[in-house]
Amino acid sequence: MKYPKDVTDAAELIWGEGMISPGGPEKVAQMLEGIDLSGQRVLDIGSGLGGVDVLLAATHGAAAVIGIDVEPQLIRSARDLAARKGLAGRVTFELVIPGKLPFEDASFDLVFSKDAMVHIADKPALYVEVLRVLKPGGWFIAADWLWSEVAAESGVVHAWLSKSQLGFAFTTPAAARQALIDAGFAEPKVTDLRHELQQANRKEVALLKGPLRQKLATIVGTEIAEGRLASATGRQAALDSGDLIPCHLRGRRLS
Ligand SMILES: C[S@@+](CC[C@H](N)C(=O)[O-])C[C@H]1O[C@@H](n2cnc3c(N)ncnc32)[C@H](O)[C@@H]1O
Repeated sequence: MKYPKDVTDAAELIWGEGMISPGGPEKVAQMLEGIDLSGQRVLDIGSGLGGVDVLLAATHGAAAVIGIDVEPQLIRSARDLAARKGLAGRVTFELVIPGKLPFEDASFDLVFSKDAMVHIADKPALYVEVLRVLKPGGWFIAADWLWSEVAAESGVVHAWLSKSQLGFAFTTPAAARQALIDAGFAEPKVTDLRHELQQANRKEVALLKGPLRQKLATIVGTEIAEGRLASATGRQAALDSGDLIPCHLRGRRLS
């Protein structure tokens, strides 16, 4: 289990209810800029605790949201959250195994994913699957953590990853863009959001060092709280060195 309860409790305290990744509602709105979700059917890959999926339906008007994830305890929490928000029929979750997406061709108007694809090693195969399940005219929109050409050799990156229990499968922005094209996406776009994430992460480090330190330690224990700070500090160094490049990805299925 990569996202046990103490880790997700810590994430929610920092980023808000149902969120295991940075940014919250503003970030989701930014990813969806120019997209009208009303009445649309959405697949969310790596749905975690389900906060993003609730937003896609309740705030952005999606008619149906299906979140998929590989961790059963996250699926259970996400279902509980959707039920608490009165969205259980409209926002649903499925436990999947990595690989082929368990959906028919052309099933979704939008495939969304926030900060989950960094855990999936075979991105070219994933993009082909995403294109397959999209309806013609549908968009793929993702936030993903990419890295620079030299990051694999970077001491800063190694120091950061040595403090994280998560497994990452990074790729470069150029490789991600090419993989979108190779999969058959039209209008491929990879937008570098490093500067924005540098600011957000700096805020997180400050919170973990100051106002949230004691509160977090009380909820999840000192070891997890200090681990969280060490991981955020390491991530800050990787952002500041230019090795870690958080990006927004877009592509469209034309026909
Ligand atoms: C950083 S969390 C983000 C969760 C959520 N999108 C959010 O923003 O709060 C990454 C999520 O991806 C999930 N994940 C990892 N590998 C996956 C895979 N192959 N398919 C679907 N989800 C996966 C993890 O279990 C975790 O819930």
